[in-house]
Amino acid sequence: MKVVLIGYGNVGKEIEKVLLENNISVELIVKSSGIYSKHSKIDTNDNFANYLDAESELLISVPSRGDGSEMLDYYLKPLEIGACIVTCEKAVLAHHWGLVQKFRGQIRYSATVGGNSGILPAVSNYQGKIEEIKAVINGTLNYMSDAFANKRKESDIFRDVMTFGFTDPGSNSLQDVFQNELRDISYKTAILANHSNLYDKITPNDLSIEPYRDNTRCAVILNKQRITAGFLAFEDTSWFPTGVNNCLYVNGVKVAEGPGAGGRITAERMFKDLQELQD
Ligand SMILES: NC(=O)c1ccc[n+]([C@@H]2O[C@H](COP(=O)([O-])OP(=O)(O)OC[C@H]3O[C@@H](n4cnc5c(N)ncnc54)[C@H](OP(=O)(O)O)[C@@H]3O)[C@@H](O)[C@H]2O)c1
Repeated sequence: MKVVLIGYGNVGKEIEKVLLENNISVELIVKSSGIYSKHSKIDTNDNFANYLDAESELLISVPSRGDGSEMLDYYLKPLEIGACIVTCEKAVLAHHWGLVQKFRGQIRYSATVGGNSGILPAVSNYQGKIEEIKAVINGTLNYMSDAFANKRKESDIFRDVMTFGFTDPGSNSLQDVFQNELRDISYKTAILANHSNLYDKITPNDLSIEPYRDNTRCAVILNKQRITAGFLAFEDTSWFPTGVNNCLYVNGVKVAEGPGAGGRITAERMFKDLQELQD
């Protein structure tokens, strides 16, 4: 097994630690500045496919951006030569679901929705026909909408979100946070919708994500008729998880709940995916 990390930020560094704890060493690290072996640069990153073969296992944690085209090559070439991929990056999967359909045996992505809360595995393992999925899939927006419901001041909410690292460190205002996190919701909703097999093929462009309004909570509801996502009005909010947790209800019954984000927990979920690929 030849382990290659693509992306070496919050999640990538934690993946390396989790692998080392399990006596697995990383052969190569691909950053935007080049390919590194034992932390020395050996090549430019556009040559990365030359270092791969069918025994390679790639762990991808590059930024989720735009329609995924910027990072698509990190998936296409490796999958075509028979390598395996574990990813937590969302834009490529959300916009190019055909990759998952074509290379199902070589790709795992359970960290893309719900961090380590096991939302996607719970959908796969559900016994029976899925009529409705109701989920909280963005911990930051869950935290924020709960704080708004409790009439906390905007400046305090923004301070918390930044101090606790719940969102992109580049955000300058709550509006930035909303914008980034609503894009995240559109990626995750598309992945969850496609993973559930309730629809033919959905991309974020097919979705309309409801912006924040007073007295709403951030959730996703999927049934055969429609997909509703973003800030929605609920009479009963008692089913929402606390803090930055995520949760999943199938046909009205809770089947998963847990932490939705964080470098370490994301890395741990990716390690579970890697083990599943090797079984
Ligand atoms: N953090 C979480 O809790 C969490 C949870 C679930 C999913 N995710 C997803 O995981 C991914 C990574 O998140 P993160 O928190 O680790 O972000 P991050 O800290 O910003 O790390 C991303 C890394 O990717 C590198 N990178 C950027 N462009 C690249 C390119 N073209 N080729 C190779 N490397 C490139 C960046 O560094 P250089 O430019 O220096 O190489 C950076 O170190 C995102 O897609 C995010 O949506 C994150």
